[in-house]
Amino acid sequence: MNVNLEEMERKLSPEADTQAAARKEDHIDLALESVTKTSEKDPRFYYEPILKGYDAGMDLAVPFMGKRLSYPIWVSSMTGGTQKAKSINTNLAKLCGKYGLGMGLGSCRQLLYDDQRLSEFDIREYLGDQPLMINLGIAQVEQLIYSKETERIEKLISKLRADGLIIHINPLQEWVQPEGDRILMSPIATIASLVDMATYPIIVKEVGQGFGPESLKALFQLPLAAIDLAGYGGTNFSKLELTRSGDLRKQSMAAVLGLGHDCDEMISYINELMDREEPLACKQVIISGGIRGFLDGYYYMKKCKLPSFYAQASGFLKYALDPVQLEQYMDIQIEGLRMANTYLSLKD
Ligand SMILES: Cc1cc2nc3c(=O)[nH]c(=O)nc-3n(C[C@H](O)[C@H](O)[C@H](O)COP(=O)(O)O)c2cc1C
Repeated sequence: MNVNLEEMERKLSPEADTQAAARKEDHIDLALESVTKTSEKDPRFYYEPILKGYDAGMDLAVPFMGKRLSYPIWVSSMTGGTQKAKSINTNLAKLCGKYGLGMGLGSCRQLLYDDQRLSEFDIREYLGDQPLMINLGIAQVEQLIYSKETERIEKLISKLRADGLIIHINPLQEWVQPEGDRILMSPIATIASLVDMATYPIIVKEVGQGFGPESLKALFQLPLAAIDLAGYGGTNFSKLELTRSGDLRKQSMAAVLGLGHDCDEMISYINELMDREEPLACKQVIISGGIRGFLDGYYYMKKCKLPSFYAQASGFLKYALDPVQLEQYMDIQIEGLRMANTYLSLKD
């Protein structure tokens, strides 16, 4: 039996439970407010409380891009380009450095031709050697290929001491936005051209609408470092853009807000691709988009037949200006994953 002896000794010491009386009081006061309904029960898991002891030092690390994430958690691309963004990026980078996570920068479009805002994105020093990716939209990649200037991407990766590039594909968001770009080439052709010439790892992501089965099938045929699902059910930039519009646009375009694929659907598509037993060139999934925390993350990682880890944007953004809360949030994610690995298995 693998038991943490130090932890056992601590529990046996007379000082171990100084809070007992206060706790009992709370129990009496709060019991009547703590009734659950069967409709609130999580239908995804079997809860098996007797089969395993809790391993407080459980190793949750995953390899990624020749590096190591100490926990299967990634900070999704968010922001840059404002002073507030600098604080957010710095806090998130420090979190990643301390906990051994990885992160994507928000869109670095404004740095392609101008270094004025570089410092807001320049966070390598806080991350140590943890994975850091720059981020560009498919429209910029299309333009750089067209103008034969893709070396700008390499220069930016090197300036920010990043490990590679995340390409975000957001045609619906661009379509909803009054001043949005129209993506002229097929994005898969653009990505394939860049992958052919790139000397750095590339991740491809959506921004909250996810990918349909044929898009996933095409993407998994490319040797990408990972595909980040960025699925439906969380922050939705089409919705955000529509909120910025006038009433007429808002009302007549509202129906598109239901378009997209959530992580559950997309993982089923990925598993079907795996079942076909044709080798996939991309072998890593980042599960994101509407991930509320460790239980969603654990569920989807277990469900996905390809190696995966999970990512959050808004989940981290909530605490991103407060480093203490950020760390508290991370500690809860880690303990939550340990709890889930000890007591939960998937029903389907
Ligand atoms: C404030 C904010 C800014 C974002 N900016 C970018 C961006 O520049 N590039 C990008 O690829 N995704 C961007 N995203 C999308 C996220 O990376 C993520 O795909 C999406 O928010 C879904 O994740 P969530 O449900 O955990 O928020 C942004 C999200 C937020 C909340």
